[in-house]
Amino acid sequence: PFVVTENCIKCKYTDCVEVCPVDCFHEGPNFLVIDPDECIDCTLCEPECPINAIYPEDDVPAGQEQFVALNAELSRQWPVITVRKEPLADAKDWEGKPDKLPLLEK
Ligand code: SF4
Ligand code: F3S
Repeated sequence: PFVVTENCIKCKYTDCVEVCPVDCFHEGPNFLVIDPDECIDCTLCEPECPINAIYPEDDVPAGQEQFVALNAELSRQWPVITVRKEPLADAKDWEGKPDKLPLLEK
C-alpha cells in the first residue's frame, strides 16, 4: 500500500483524496492516512500531493518508517474523506518543516 508521511502534518492539502478509486483516505485534525487494507496500489494519489507526502510503503523516506504503522492504526479510528477541502490555514508555513511528528493530533 501507499503511506502518508510526515510532510502532510499541519498542511493537509487534500488533493490526494479525490483521485482514490477505493476511498481509502481517512482524516484526522491535522493529518491524513491511507487504510493499507483498502489501498490497491493504483499510484494515482502519489503525484497529486503538492508537497510529496505520499510514498509506497517500501519507499518511505529514511527515518519515517513509523508512518507505516501510524497509517494502519489511525485509519481504523478516523473517518473516510473523499471530497477535497481547504488546506489548513498556515499550511504554507509548515511545508517541508522537519520533525513534525510530535505535532500530530490524534
Ligand atoms: Fe488510493 Fe491508489 Fe493512493 Fe492507494 S495508491 S491510496 S488506492 S489512490
Ligand atoms: Fe496530505 Fe498531501 Fe494529501 S498534504 S492531505 S497527503 S495532498
